[in-house]
Amino acid sequence: MACILVTGGAGFIGSHTTLALLESGHDVVVVDNFTNSNPEALQRVKRLAGRGFLHYQLDVRDHSALDAVFRQHNISAVIHFAALKAVGESVARPLEYYLNNLGALMVLLGVMGAHDCFRLVFSSSATVYRMAAESSFREDAPLEAVNPYGRTKIFAEKILCDLSASDANWKVIILRYFNPVGAHPSGMIGEAPQGTANNLFPIITQVAMGALPEVRVYGNDYPTHDGTGVRDYIHVCDLAQGHVAALSLIEQVNGAEAFNLGTGRGHSVLDVIRIFELTTGRRVPCRIVERRPGDVAISVANPAKAIERLGWKAGLDLTAMCRDGWRWQEQNPYGYALIESTI
Ligand code: NAD
Ligand code: WQD
Repeated sequence: MACILVTGGAGFIGSHTTLALLESGHDVVVVDNFTNSNPEALQRVKRLAGRGFLHYQLDVRDHSALDAVFRQHNISAVIHFAALKAVGESVARPLEYYLNNLGALMVLLGVMGAHDCFRLVFSSSATVYRMAAESSFREDAPLEAVNPYGRTKIFAEKILCDLSASDANWKVIILRYFNPVGAHPSGMIGEAPQGTANNLFPIITQVAMGALPEVRVYGNDYPTHDGTGVRDYIHVCDLAQGHVAALSLIEQVNGAEAFNLGTGRGHSVLDVIRIFELTTGRRVPCRIVERRPGDVAISVANPAKAIERLGWKAGLDLTAMCRDGWRWQEQNPYGYALIESTI
C-alpha cells in the first residue's frame, strides 16, 4: 500500500503533521534520528490517531539506511521536515547546518529519484525573505537570508528548483512557515526544545511556569503599534493541515512551487504576552531590553496564494495558540523527558 514518508516526524511540526496525515486517511512511515526530539512523541501520535505506523531511527544522510526504507515501503510522496533550526547555533556552527540541512536533502533526493518517487513537500521558512524590503510577504518577494540557517533554506529551495527544471517528473511544494506556535488541543504533543529556548512562545510558557524569571522584550522602538516586533504566529495544527492540503494539490503543480503558510495577521510581542495572560490567567513579567541583532520590525505572510491554490486557510487565533500551548506546557513541564526517565 502506498504511504507518505515523513522525515523529522518526531519533531514539533512533524509530529502534528503525522497525526493530521493519519487522521485524513494516509498511511505514514516516519524517519528521525531524534537529535532534537523524543520517540515518545511518536507513541503519543499513535495513541491520538488510534492507529499505528512504522518508524525508523536513522539519519537522512545515511544513504543505505534510507534506501532500505524505500525498498521496504511503497512511498508515493515525502514530507521533509528533518533539519536543524536554531538561528544562533547556525551562526556559531555553520558547517553543521550546511552538512545536515543540505546533505540530508541531497541524499533524500537521490534516493527518491532512484525509487521513482518524485513528489516532495519541503519545509521552508519566512526567514528566506529579504526582511527589510517589506513587511507583508508574497511568494514572489525577493529572497535573502541573514544567517546560515536561513541560507540553508534558500539553497535548498534553489536545489529543488534546479532539479525540477532538469526533470519534469518532479513535483515539489515548498511551504514557507511563518511563526509556528501552540500545540495539539489534547496537550499530548507539543514543542519540546532541547536546551535553552530562544523563540518567544516557549520563553513565555517557561516564564509562566516559573522556570524563567521574565521575558526580555527585544526593543520597543520599532515602527509598530506599540514599538515591539510584530510576527505572524500560526497554530501548529493549522500548519499540519497545510501539509495535508499540499499533498492533495501536488499532482497539479509544475516543477517546484512555493506557498506561504501564515495567518496574514500580525501580533506584537506585547500583544502575545497580554493575550497569553488573559487566556491562561498566568502572570508573565517582562522587561524591555536592547533590540536583538538581526530582528526586523514586522514579518507577516500574505497567505492569498495558499488560500486560493491549496484551498487552505489558518482558522485558529492567538487565543487558541496560547490556550493549547499552555495546556501542553502545564501537562508536560519537562517535555517528553520525564516519561522517558520513568520507563
Ligand atoms: P524540530 O527540531 O522539532 O524537528 C526536526 C526533526 O528532524 C527533529 O525530530 C530532529 O530530530 C530531526 N532531524 C534533524 N536532522 C535530521 C537528520 N539528519 N536525519 C533525521 N532526522 C533529523 O523542528 P520543527 O520546528 O518541527 O521544524 C521542522 C522543519 O520546519 C524544519 O525543517 C525547520 O527548519 C522548519 N521550520 C521550522 C520553524 C519553526 O519555527 N519551528 C519555522 C520555519 C521552518
Ligand atoms: C519573535 C518576536 C523577537 C524572544 C524565528 C527564526 C525563523 C523561524 C521562526 C525557523 C521577535 C521577540 C523573542 C525573546 C523577544 N524559524 N522576542 N524576546 O525571530 O520571528 O523567527 O523563528 O525557520 O527563522 O528566526 O521568532 O520567536 O525568536 O521572535 O522579545 O526572548 O519575539 O524580537 O520580535 P523570529 P522569535
